[in-house]
Amino acid sequence: MRNSIIWSGRSHNYTSKDIKYLTNVIKFADPLTQGFYLKKFENQFSKYIGKKNTFAVSSAAAALEIIALLLDLKKGDEVIIPAHTYCASAIPFARNGAKIVWSDIDFNTRVVDLADIKKKITKRTKAVVFVHLYGFAVNFNPIISYLKNKKIKIIEDCAQALGAEVNGKKVGTIGDFSCFSFHAQKNITTLGEGGMVYVRDNFLSKKVKGLRHNGHTNFKKNRKYYWLPAMGNLDLDIKNKWPYKFTISEIQCAAGIVMLKKLDQLNLTRIKRAKKIIQSLSDFNELHFNSSFMKKRHVYHLLSAFYQPKNRVNRNNLIKLLYNKYGIQCATQYYPLYRYSLFKKMGIKKNKCPNTDKFYDNMISFPFHIWMKEKDVQYLIRSIKQALIELKKI
Ligand SMILES: Cc1ncc(COP(=O)(O)O)c(C=O)c1O
Repeated sequence: MRNSIIWSGRSHNYTSKDIKYLTNVIKFADPLTQGFYLKKFENQFSKYIGKKNTFAVSSAAAALEIIALLLDLKKGDEVIIPAHTYCASAIPFARNGAKIVWSDIDFNTRVVDLADIKKKITKRTKAVVFVHLYGFAVNFNPIISYLKNKKIKIIEDCAQALGAEVNGKKVGTIGDFSCFSFHAQKNITTLGEGGMVYVRDNFLSKKVKGLRHNGHTNFKKNRKYYWLPAMGNLDLDIKNKWPYKFTISEIQCAAGIVMLKKLDQLNLTRIKRAKKIIQSLSDFNELHFNSSFMKKRHVYHLLSAFYQPKNRVNRNNLIKLLYNKYGIQCATQYYPLYRYSLFKKMGIKKNKCPNTDKFYDNMISFPFHIWMKEKDVQYLIRSIKQALIELKKI
């Protein structure tokens, strides 16, 4: 059989010990939602990032919807978001009425360019979204006080970067709000879907439980009769905002507890593997990776590279060759958001983002799933080398 590496729709496998733990939850958990495992998962997550006020929700997109509501956007308020990210980083803010201003990326790190953000700030800027894309932690320390003085809220999209750090501080702990994803392909998953929202402000954080659960606040303690009035209070205390239903089941939370224990080890494996692949390909200077192996600055959720050959071939040739000859499925990410008809039709205009365009048009993302074995990694390296040599000859 021919070798291959697919672009998999799952990143993780479970040990028999994990499955035993989860089977017990499936058999015995009561309630099946909003119970013991939710509390435990949230507590352990809080401990992991070192911040209270973390709330499990159904996805990072859901977390961003809650954040967008809490921003209390008024007509004309602007939110600066990188155009080089997954669409969920932007949709919640657009839905809640923000004027979206696209920011560009730094060409080497492929995350937001602080100088570009500064240029795009106006009197109407309400918030800036920093996306720790590909698993690389944005260092926005240099402009924190600049943003704070202007009363601009900082939102961290950590969907791809749980566990990454800048100067010993974990992503998602520096801004005013942050979101995390436990989708199937992320660095940890809660059985395919899930997320977490962090809200720094204690007053605002008290509204999150209601916002994620149809406005319900906690039941009173010692509740004897389930069916008597006061079935949880519908008392959201946010003017003109309807709540959502973004809750997550007990079994998902139990899976989160299992995965969270392994997170640092999984991230370490990702960093080591990325280092091995990048260093093995260092003779091919037409391929530019973001090589940041210091501490946990880059947890390599994905392994992407800018491909700039000297001849007339391009990354589409590389993608096709890797698939057709070696059975390796690669991807392109992230289509600049202003090019999507969805955003265009909604009247969101393009801003100048030359690096976003140039990077996307010439990038390739290699399969980088945690289930890949050493032989898969070696096969990937060998195949990329051979493909690059073949393309040089054209
Ligand atoms: C940068 C970024 N933000 C947000 C999301 C949304 O995450 P979820 O699928 O949990 O809603 C994703 C998912 O791919 C993402 O990559």
